[in-house]
Amino acid sequence: MTAAASAAGSAPFVGRERELAQIGAALDGAAAGRGQLFMLVGEPGIGKTSLADRAAALATARGFTVLWGRCWEAGGAPAYWPWLDPIAALAGALDDSTLARVLGDGAPLLTEIVRELRARLPDTPAGAPPPVDEGLFEQPVAPPSAEVRAKVAIAEATAMSAP
Ligand SMILES: Nc1ncnc2c1ncn2[C@@H]1O[C@H](COP(=O)(O)OP(=O)(O)OP(=O)(O)O)[C@@H](O)[C@H]1O
Ligand SMILES: [Mg+2]
Repeated sequence: MTAAASAAGSAPFVGRERELAQIGAALDGAAAGRGQLFMLVGEPGIGKTSLADRAAALATARGFTVLWGRCWEAGGAPAYWPWLDPIAALAGALDDSTLARVLGDGAPLLTEIVRELRARLPDTPAGAPPPVDEGLFEQPVAPPSAEVRAKVAIAEATAMSAP
């Protein structure tokens, strides 16, 4: 087992040296300001989640903030569902004034989407129709213009802190 492969814990983990090397190189690039997107694709049980765990451990060991967002496999989840936890986690590391500053113009939309933000910044003006109400997966999807604006706001908010 390589040192990189053992970084995530004691569970047996073999192979994937090539993928881990690619991810390690991408982390070097990200530290230098060149972000990359990796997609782990394969048959059920092939090891996608395990590799993602190791990638996260590598990133954590290098001082990156690692955030997890998960899709709702059954369908019917509110728009932006995979982003809610990552944004809430990012926000949790910021004080209120910093949070308001980094959200900027996106605050009205993002506080509609992420409940934790609304609780933190209750005086933020209401934004576009909210696509999210936790536990109510039948919420209508926001109209396209609001979706586009929300995605821009999400992108800006997730770029708001350290890599
Ligand atoms: N490189 C590896 N070495 C040893 N065991 C592994 C490795 N990769 C995955 N496994 C084991 O194989 C099983 C399935 O792995 P994992 O859950 O990561 O697959 P997955 O592709 O995410 O599956 P799913 O498609 O169901 O989400 C787990 O028990 C995991 O510990
Ligand atoms: Mg998996």
